[in-house]
Amino acid sequence: MNNARLGPRAQSFINHQTACSTMANLIKIAGVKDVPPGQAAAFNVEGQRIALFNIDGTFYAIGDTCTHRGGPLSEGSVAGTTVTCPWHGADFDLKTGAVMRPPARQGVPSYRVVIEGGDVQIEI
Ligand code: FES
Repeated sequence: MNNARLGPRAQSFINHQTACSTMANLIKIAGVKDVPPGQAAAFNVEGQRIALFNIDGTFYAIGDTCTHRGGPLSEGSVAGTTVTCPWHGADFDLKTGAVMRPPARQGVPSYRVVIEGGDVQIEI
């Protein structure tokens, strides 16, 4: 498409739309009712294992596989917005995926969660 005749605002809009459509890929991973408050579950999404936590109605999605030895973070204990790996006790921040306590040294991915019409979607 030749946009040479469009003004700068229109061109800016087109550039924004193009950038957004290539960056955001929302994928439904569960229904809101599938993971009640205080619960967590793991899902396979596009080849990745993702842990979904419901903390008092707010959902957080991070990589499920602990970077230490692969423990399942969805099975860990949660205090506030911190999950403790069930295998050797590393802590991860549910908001960012950052490691907060060894023995893990690296964080896990975190994913933006979008709730829409009873669906839990994550941005990949
Ligand atoms: S596997 Fe998670 S702390 Fe070791």
